[in-house]
Amino acid sequence: MSTGTTARRADYPAADPGPVPVRIRHSKGGGALGFFETTGDVRAFTHAGLFQPGIRTDVVVRFSATLGYRGSREAWRDLRGFAVKFLTPDGEYDLVGNNSPVFFLRDEAKFASLVVAHKMYRDGSVFDYDRLWDFWTRNPESAHQVAWLLSDRGIPRSWRHQDGFGSHTFQWVNAAGERFWVKYHLRTDQGISNLSDDEASAIDATEVDHQRHDLRAAIDRGEHPSWTLSVQVMPDDDARTAPFNAFDLTKTWSKASYPLIEVGRLVLDRNPDDEVAEIEQSAFAPSSFVPGIGPSPDPMLLSRIDSYWRFHRHRVQEGVASRAVAPFTASAPGWDDDLAAQARAWDPADDFRQAGDLVRRVLDDAGRTRLRGVVVSQLAEVTDPALRERAVEFWRRIDAAEGAAIAAELA
Ligand code: HEM
Repeated sequence: MSTGTTARRADYPAADPGPVPVRIRHSKGGGALGFFETTGDVRAFTHAGLFQPGIRTDVVVRFSATLGYRGSREAWRDLRGFAVKFLTPDGEYDLVGNNSPVFFLRDEAKFASLVVAHKMYRDGSVFDYDRLWDFWTRNPESAHQVAWLLSDRGIPRSWRHQDGFGSHTFQWVNAAGERFWVKYHLRTDQGISNLSDDEASAIDATEVDHQRHDLRAAIDRGEHPSWTLSVQVMPDDDARTAPFNAFDLTKTWSKASYPLIEVGRLVLDRNPDDEVAEIEQSAFAPSSFVPGIGPSPDPMLLSRIDSYWRFHRHRVQEGVASRAVAPFTASAPGWDDDLAAQARAWDPADDFRQAGDLVRRVLDDAGRTRLRGVVVSQLAEVTDPALRERAVEFWRRIDAAEGAAIAAELA
């Protein structure tokens, strides 16, 4: 991978948002345009026009750093936003996801604390690892996302080499009015590829926009990145009877029970002529649905539905994206109080299981060693010995052997 040159910077227009306020979150990003083509047949599950066989829909995609400020470097360890706007004849459908299948939280009331903990700087300059690890260890439902973020997946080589996920559970409705719960998976056709911490530091030392430049250069070369969209589909009743919470954003669904069903292919084949107008001013709203698709009772999703449009009203110039300020656009059935209560019935005893599976089954020995290296280097920055001990306990609960190995390396 090239680390960027001044010549390349001069070649491409700067993504200066000018007089438009930047996003308060996911401020640093970029994107491209393209199309989505439905190659599978999912009519049994949804009557959404864009997912009918053979239908091709224009898309706008914006990738972003979750934590980065407007001028931040792009190779640091972070979740990446993966927002897709489908421009359908029925209106805009926005899938505003991340490159991770899960998230740190499932309770929307904790979201503001999460943002503070992840953006805190001690003395205004040094990243505050005490604050971060204090938050993670006090909120063990974050364990799965923490293990994922500190593994190799935490620094994708480029936006092209990462998967995307809707992360939340969504609702699909078929032509007969039957309801299903779905999880979206966008698998990169370029293959997963990640950077080591050393590679990332080398890039960050010379280039702050490397992901944006990588995407632009690939499309200019005619290498159009693509992703295969699949869904896991759960029959309506399973959400009430399954032995797990189908709406818990910190957990994935088993692929043995709910296998991936192919829907189609997302292709990015055009760079924006005007990055500000076509990408930065786009307003991606989790509240923008089209008929045949709707929300679920996941409290995090409902909170997002009620939140983004306010920021869009503040941020986007009037008339640029009128649909963006629509508070809610869906025509999908609601649910009763029992299901809403069930969506909040989390099982704290289960918080470490999927994180442990990731460490033991998904990672190999080399991957576990690299993960341990990242954990140990972060905990070495933690100044409070009691907090360091709590963090080691957090890892013991994820995996006893890994916790012991971390404790030994810190000793
Ligand atoms: C209650 C929890 C959350 C709240 C209140 C929240 C709030 C926000 C806000 C205010 C923005 C800026 C919107 C704009 O100016 O366009 C934003 C951007 C974004 N959020 Fe969230 N967020 C939450 C959770 C999540 C989760 C769980 C995901 C992913 C699964 C996510 C993905 C994104 C993405 C991808 C963007 C950038 C979209 C773009 O490129 O324009 N957020 N969020």
